[in-house]
Amino acid sequence: MTEKKLAALLAEMSLEEKVMQLVQLPGSAYDDTANITGNELEPVDPRVKQLAGSTLGILSGKTAKRIQQEYMAAHPHHIPLLLMADVIHGYRTVFPCPLGLGATFDPEIVEQAASAQAEEAAADGIQVTFSPMADLVRDARWGRVMESTGEDKVLNGRMAAAMVRGYQGGGALKDEHTVASCVKHYAAYGAADGGRDYNNTELSEHTLREDYLPAYAEGIRAGARMIMSSFNSWNGIPVTGSAFLLKQILRSELGFDGVVISDWDAVGQLIPHGFAEDRKDAARKAFQAGVDIDMCTGAYADHLTELVRDGEIAEKEIDGAVMRVLRLKNDLGLFENPLRGFTDCTRNTTLEERRALARKAVAESLVLLKNEENLLPLRGKRIAFIGPYADSRELISTWAMAGEKEPVVSLMEGAAAAFAHTKTEIRISPGCTLLDNDTVVSFYQYHSDTWEEENERMLAEALKTASWADTVVLCLGEHPMQSGESTSRADLHLPKVQEQLLEAVAAVCPQVATLVFCGRPLALSSVAGRSKALMICWLPGTEGGNGILDVLTGKMPPMGRLPMSFPWTVGQEPLHYDCYATGRPKPAEGLGSFTTRYLDYPNEALYPFGFGLSYGDTVISDPVVSAVDLSEKGELTVTAILENRGDACAAHTVQLYLRDVSASRVRPVRELKDFRRLTLQPGEKRDVRFAVTESMLRFWRADGTFGSEPGKFQVWISLSSRQGNPAEFVLKG
Ligand code: BGC
Repeated sequence: MTEKKLAALLAEMSLEEKVMQLVQLPGSAYDDTANITGNELEPVDPRVKQLAGSTLGILSGKTAKRIQQEYMAAHPHHIPLLLMADVIHGYRTVFPCPLGLGATFDPEIVEQAASAQAEEAAADGIQVTFSPMADLVRDARWGRVMESTGEDKVLNGRMAAAMVRGYQGGGALKDEHTVASCVKHYAAYGAADGGRDYNNTELSEHTLREDYLPAYAEGIRAGARMIMSSFNSWNGIPVTGSAFLLKQILRSELGFDGVVISDWDAVGQLIPHGFAEDRKDAARKAFQAGVDIDMCTGAYADHLTELVRDGEIAEKEIDGAVMRVLRLKNDLGLFENPLRGFTDCTRNTTLEERRALARKAVAESLVLLKNEENLLPLRGKRIAFIGPYADSRELISTWAMAGEKEPVVSLMEGAAAAFAHTKTEIRISPGCTLLDNDTVVSFYQYHSDTWEEENERMLAEALKTASWADTVVLCLGEHPMQSGESTSRADLHLPKVQEQLLEAVAAVCPQVATLVFCGRPLALSSVAGRSKALMICWLPGTEGGNGILDVLTGKMPPMGRLPMSFPWTVGQEPLHYDCYATGRPKPAEGLGSFTTRYLDYPNEALYPFGFGLSYGDTVISDPVVSAVDLSEKGELTVTAILENRGDACAAHTVQLYLRDVSASRVRPVRELKDFRRLTLQPGEKRDVRFAVTESMLRFWRADGTFGSEPGKFQVWISLSSRQGNPAEFVLKG
């Protein structure tokens, strides 16, 4: 349809019909098997149901098709219903959770994964996904760090853009293999105070602009068609009611012209926030702030028409929002083909190809943190896989709702396949329960009356297995429902029962390689201390067992890097590498007195952002700059040499960091600017080169503008945010 025809359609619509395009109902309004329900709205007024412009959470193609057909037949203007869902890290084929995808430092595979997810979701009639989550995260207590790609704005920006490209197929939304992408949760949702979900945020404007906004902006630049306004408040104003964030920054500064949707019930939540008196006030404030679609509160459905009639909202403002929704439907090709998708389809890729991609993504996401005596890759002949994750299919997060457990490859299955036809024997033993008794997990409390007996029995059996083995792979971790929405934790340890299992097993067989499955950084110092090798496996998804075995057996070198700092203790949170030095920095050696430090713990992470080992034995030289001066329009090159002196293949993400030594506003001790993965065969030596230009040196200056300032800079090429020595150059005025 042309823009002119869309405008003509708009002109034919009544005010009520227009308002209803801005109303989103939960899938349960149309189908009682939908996985998302909206109790507040039920029972849904049949007229609203007939006219509401969109719904979410219908994960069955057959049902979606029926709903669309019935809806279209009855809609006065035959405007199709927009079907949205949370397709976050997989649909039927589940990829590693987003934090794991962040650990790949590989935007290319992340784009391919998003494209595969889009294909599967589109085949079930889904037209919009609520992904990527571009929230910057610095606090491991916040359960939703699992849904982020980490603590760094450059990494997050590249990953957000890669996901948008993957979902939207380069923007040709009419292609039935694609879905439109909704970047969320704008803005600064990840900065919740104390890591408690939905909490207020306290951030200065320069931190918001410099650190929190760039990844959303990258998603927008990549063409995302929708933005979700977040639950939290910033600067005392809930984002869903903030014209400064939704109009001034998002529309005027970032140039976003797509649809803004509120997060679930975020319009209604303006009331408990203390920002709106009642639902009518909430509808008015959210709409005036710039929210086009109200996700599931019904406040727009009940009050927007009346607000226009009262003269509080101009009808032309409603028209603007409705046109944005209609344009999206049109760009998705829905007017010509309301049954877009819905094919059992031979699609772009086969299921086998998507599984192979998921397996590769798992292998790339694993982060090896310790490998004493080169315990890995596994060489033993009697290998015991012990622990609650040794034979578990619970390898997918709460945000892969369409992902089924049945096709998940457990570690045991991965190991059985990897060691078939070899002389290596494997044994499996669960060792303990996944949780301590009476632990609260998401919205329920785990309790078992027989917990103690069960654990005694499992421990005894595990110790027998450990004494048989020459190597133990200990498979520990968080419960998948301990991370995700509303899963904040004030303790970042593994369950006690798992730490006790490790201690007991290591006493019997000290050759322990510990795998940790988690959706957030955990405090792992005692686990690391008792393990010869330690590897983070995240929530790896459908191909978990295979991808992990590929790395454990040395078929693939470990190549993941930490996308978030792992702390010594929860008291260090929020924790991130790109902090400020302060006026009394702790000296590099010793404690110093009256310096910025803790008495009882280091300032730095146990394992910092960007860290991860590989096989082989790689050394990197200090960086060398091609010139000591950089002009405003010029470019300089920074080079380092990477050499694998070991006898195994190694894969490393080489990272470029910068520091502005003095500026009108204090600058972080280091900031990631670029990164690149290199694979080195034994004995191989390679030059790594990065370009540095003036645009990389810009920041939110003291005068409230973005730009660089002449002066001295330090530059590192290193294998983590903490390693290496800097070179220097000067930006000329
Ligand atoms: C979450 C969003 C999600 C939405 C729809 C909300 O509770 O915060 O991330 O997209 O629900 O399911």
